[in-house]
Amino acid sequence: MPGTSAGVAAAGRLRLPFKEERTITRLDSSPAWRAVMAPDEAILTLSDIGVTFGGVAALTDVSLTVRHGEICSVIGPNGAGKSSLINVVSGLYKPDRGSIRLDGQTFGQIRSERLAQLNVARTFQNLALFGGLSVRDNVSAGLTHTRRAGVLEQFLLLPRSRREDREIGERVEAMLSFLDLDPHRERLVSTLPYGLQKRVELARALVAEPKLLLLDEPMAGMTATEKQEMAGLIRSARQRYGLTVILIEHDIGVVMDLSDHVAVLDYGRKIADGTPDAVRSDPAVIRAYIGSTDDEDLV
Ligand SMILES: Nc1ncnc2c1ncn2[C@@H]1O[C@H](COP(=O)(O)OP(=O)(O)OP(=O)(O)O)[C@@H](O)[C@H]1O
Ligand SMILES: [Mg+2]
Repeated sequence: MPGTSAGVAAAGRLRLPFKEERTITRLDSSPAWRAVMAPDEAILTLSDIGVTFGGVAALTDVSLTVRHGEICSVIGPNGAGKSSLINVVSGLYKPDRGSIRLDGQTFGQIRSERLAQLNVARTFQNLALFGGLSVRDNVSAGLTHTRRAGVLEQFLLLPRSRREDREIGERVEAMLSFLDLDPHRERLVSTLPYGLQKRVELARALVAEPKLLLLDEPMAGMTATEKQEMAGLIRSARQRYGLTVILIEHDIGVVMDLSDHVAVLDYGRKIADGTPDAVRSDPAVIRAYIGSTDDEDLV
């Protein structure tokens, strides 16, 4: 069965022609949970999104529907437009065309400063943490937008400011405990191993309890064990907070086991969209990843 989608599915390790060699890690899936938790209503609908930079089309006519409670993975070779898609949803990129319907409101462009109000949070492909601050302070930064007390009130430690400090502190402690980061709470982020830094970034995004969480390669550079831990945390977070997740990930094994829904981009266009099984057996996807469907491309 090599050379077919079933061959791809059966391969324990598969070499993919990305810039870096990626390997597949098998994880446990939870289909029973999915059936219970994935309702049909859309939380996000992208319609005909186009983004260009000079002559480069990062996204062309991309439409995508993400339903409440699902984990939707966006996959594709390097430069396919995956981060651009998340950047559109999080307001970093302004689409040249198309519309974004988010939780009942339609936008031509999301304003990034309104992202938290829209109940959307994200992590970045390249970590965006304050290396010189502690884990706790980095996670607290995810709740800055919830403060109502002004700078003077904070400076003078007036009652509202003290109450907010206490509430934020409690939420941060709960998140540190949920993600097993409490033993590291006082450490400077720059002194943590990379896998833990990725977890701190997840904590900072999750602490505001967003409805939609955008994760741009949260497992990049991790060992297989760290990836399994992170995948478990993403599942638990969805269950605990009723999250919807858009996940960019290169490890196809993780994607297939974690996702309810997979969209595939190639050269800025969506070439497939469906269940993990349907996408895995789509010849266009195999061509995009392997370059051809010849037997010898599978290792
Ligand atoms: N800010 C930008 N300025 C110029 N070109 C950009 C910018 N952002 C993305 N691009 C281009 O758009 C295309 C898609 O890039 P994008 O980062 O979205 O790909 P990706 O699928 O996330 O890739 P990777 O897997 O390497 O992270 C690439 O050709 C990239 O060079
Ligand atoms: Mg990217």
